[in-house]
Amino acid sequence: MSVLLTGAAGYVGSHTCVELLNRGFSIVGIDNYINSSPVALDRVRQITSKDFPSYELDLRDERALRAVFEAQPIEAVIHFAGLKAVGESVKKPLEYYDNNLYGSIVLLKVMREFAVRSIIFSSSATVYGAATQMPLREDMALGCVNPYGWTKFAIEQMLRDLCAADPGFSAVLLRYFNPVGAHESGLIGDDPSGIPNNLLPYVTRVAVEELQRLPVFGNDYNTPDGTPLRDYIHVSDLARGHVAAMEYAGAHKGCEAVNLGTGKASSVLEVIKTFEQVNGVPIPYFIAPRRAGDADESWSSTEKAERLLGWKAEKGLGEMLRDAWRWQKQNPKGYHA
Ligand code: NAD
Ligand code: UFG
Repeated sequence: MSVLLTGAAGYVGSHTCVELLNRGFSIVGIDNYINSSPVALDRVRQITSKDFPSYELDLRDERALRAVFEAQPIEAVIHFAGLKAVGESVKKPLEYYDNNLYGSIVLLKVMREFAVRSIIFSSSATVYGAATQMPLREDMALGCVNPYGWTKFAIEQMLRDLCAADPGFSAVLLRYFNPVGAHESGLIGDDPSGIPNNLLPYVTRVAVEELQRLPVFGNDYNTPDGTPLRDYIHVSDLARGHVAAMEYAGAHKGCEAVNLGTGKASSVLEVIKTFEQVNGVPIPYFIAPRRAGDADESWSSTEKAERLLGWKAEKGLGEMLRDAWRWQKQNPKGYHA
């Protein structure tokens, strides 16, 4: 089976490329490298000893996208491509709606033209908005608190509408919790440009002494140690979840939203402490003001993923943090060495 991955060179995309190739799928990658590097795809080839076609193109370039569908026997799509920085989305909402929403519309139109009716979409736990009842379940009410979240919400709705209109269409909306870690080889990993927004890349850049101290955004949350609780999931477990979702979509029509999380919650201070313990590297930090929009807690119900996809996360926090550190240590400047 031949699968097109949009945003293939990104953090989650590159790990999913490895998983699919190892499982015998043929893949085609597209990326405009706005937040990634073609080196990531070369590393995927190195890890798997397999080659595959990859195209540098912007999803919104309908003509170029159509040419890929003409050249390649694509049967299903995994759609990672998008902008993902929450704070930036508040400052540049139009760019986010244009890239994420319009890019998805172009993709779905070209898929329709080529009769490709199976898609796995990278959604996010952000669609649960300010929900306070834990664990978060797929049937809970949705609502968002920033433009990035609304783009995910809108694309989910578009896919639900498409499945309602075309009974032959399959869509799985994967709501990721907090992906961290890296492939065990240390050859691919998270490589955000500039100052990282997310906790783990900030921690590893403090560990390589590129950044001095980690700001912990608030210690007065309503949690056991005062710092927010999140459901951190190893990116390789997440990648396996995509293969399970592809297999599910191949056998079922219609639209399903599925959480990909571990069902376990860790606080920011626990992440720091565990990182120091498993890697033997100190992480100097200071308590900074709260970051706007951060919730006390966010963690996943895993029941639907287990029932529908037969998938369960396997790796624990220690392994996530060991792998994240191996990647950063081996690649102190990321892909731009
Ligand atoms: P990433 O930025 O590493 O990967 C996204 C990739 O898409 C990048 O390689 C980027 O260059 C590419 N891209 C962006 N716009 C494009 C366009 N118009 N045309 C072609 N390529 C384009 O992000 P990631 O962490 O791998 O996330 C993948 C997906 O999962 C995103 O849609 C993101 O919103 C979603 N998601 C990520 C997280 C997370 O914490 N990493 C959590 C929830 C959801
Ligand atoms: N944090 C810090 N210091 C930092 C960075 C983060 O203390 O320098 C804290 C945050 O306050 C939060 C926790 O670490 O308590 C995790 O923050 P991240 O930014 O890593 O992750 P979020 O849970 O805020 O966001 C993630 C994804 C978003 C998604 C959101 C909701 O990155 O894309 O989950 O599902 F929208």
